[in-house]
Formats: sequence, C-alpha cells, structure tokens
Amino acid sequence: MKTSRARRFPQVLIHVVALLPLLWLAAEGLITGWGFNPVQTLEHRTGDWALILLLASLACTPLRTLSGWSGFTPWRRPLGIYAFVYAALHLLVFLILDYGLVWGQILELLLNKLYLWLGLAAFLILIALAVTSTNAAQRKMKRSWNRLHALVYPLAILVILHYALSLKGDLFRLSGQIFWPLVALGVWILLMTLRLTSLRRWISHLR
Ligand code: HEM
Repeated sequence: MKTSRARRFPQVLIHVVALLPLLWLAAEGLITGWGFNPVQTLEHRTGDWALILLLASLACTPLRTLSGWSGFTPWRRPLGIYAFVYAALHLLVFLILDYGLVWGQILELLLNKLYLWLGLAAFLILIALAVTSTNAAQRKMKRSWNRLHALVYPLAILVILHYALSLKGDLFRLSGQIFWPLVALGVWILLMTLRLTSLRRWISHLR
C-alpha cells in the first residue's frame, strides 16, 4: 500500500507541475490583467509553455539514461499531452482573442507568414500524437505507432523555427531576437545527442 502510494506520488506531481503555469497565468490575469497587451501575453505564454513541456517530455528518456532512474519514463506521455493542451490554448488565443475568428484575415496572414505554416504543421503532428497516445492505440498500431511517435523530434524543430521566425529573428543568419530559440535548439541538440545508442551504452557502462 505504502509502495503504491510512493509510486503514485511522482505521477501526481507531474500533473501539478504541468498545471502550475496555467494557474500562474490565471492569477496574473486577476492581479494585473496581463499587462498592456493581454492577448499577446496570453499568446506568448501559452506558446512558451507548450514548447517547454514538449522539450521536457523529450528529456525523459535522456534523463533516465543519465540517472538510471526509470521513474522518468512514465512522465513522457502526460508531459506530451500537456504540451498539446497548451498548444491548443495558444491556437485558440490566436484564432478567437487575436483575430476574432475573422477567417479572411486569418487566411491572409497565413498566406504571408511562413512561421504560421510551421506552427500549423507542428500542431497537426501534435494532434496525431495526442489522439494516438493511449495504450489501446499503441497496441493496435504496433510498429507504425513507433514510426508516428518518432515524429516528436522533427515536431520540436518545427516549433523552434516557428518561435524564431515569430520573433522576426533569423536563425540562419543569427540575427534578431533569437537568444531563446537558440537556447531551445541547443537543448534539442543535447537531447538528440543523448539518445545516440553508443553514447547511451557508454553512460550506462560508467554508472
Ligand atoms: C496553427 C498553429 C499555430 C498558430 C496559428 C500559432 C500562432 C502564433 C503566433 C501568432 C505567435 C506570436 C507571434 C507574434 O507575437 O509576433 C506565436 C508564437 C509562438 N508560438 Fe505559435 N502558433 C501555432 C502553433 C504553435 C505550437 C504547436 C507551438 C508549440 C508546441 C507554438 C509555440 C509558440 C512559441 C514558443 C511562440 C513564441 C512565444 C514568445 O514569443 O514568447 N505555436 N504563435
């Protein structure tokens, strides 16, 4: 009994941690009204947390490799689903609060801004991953489930490019406000490197 409670604790904790930014955002709204440009604040914060939670879900396997603690693995799925939830809120803020569901304007913007196409592609992949995130879907899809869920790595790159271009930065020329997108890119490269089989074996050997 005690052991199962002890095992459940980190599971509950991950939900609390993932919901804290939403509570913080709600509290900020009540206290400050989200500042001078509330819609932009909401758009940015929900986008930021979607990306942070996506990278956190990608970090679970490397963290298990580094620490040897398998308790990180069950966090991967809830963190990915919360990334989807924040991304859905981000999209709703954009569609409803920013553009008031004026589809003509939204389409015009979409035709002119590459970063929106990247965001849209990322969101479509996130939907596919969230819908197939159940154990039943995993059993049913067998090997194609692994192939579909491997899209989470290119998905993170699409989001990082979406982020960099939305800031009017140029990731390729290293110009503009691209410090945080570059940090996200650095984290992604580190996480990808830690997934290399040879490196994982070497780290396990060192432990
Ligand atoms: C159809 C899908 C999407 C649309 C229409 C969209 C739209 C936007 C818009 C309008 C901005 C703000 C640009 C500005 O203020 O100039 C933005 C920024 C951002 N978006 Fe998205 N987005 C989408 C998908 C996503 C997804 C799936 C993620 C993450 C998983 C994401 C993460 C971000 C981030 C991190 C930022 C930068 C926030 C900041 O500046 O602090 N977006 N997006």
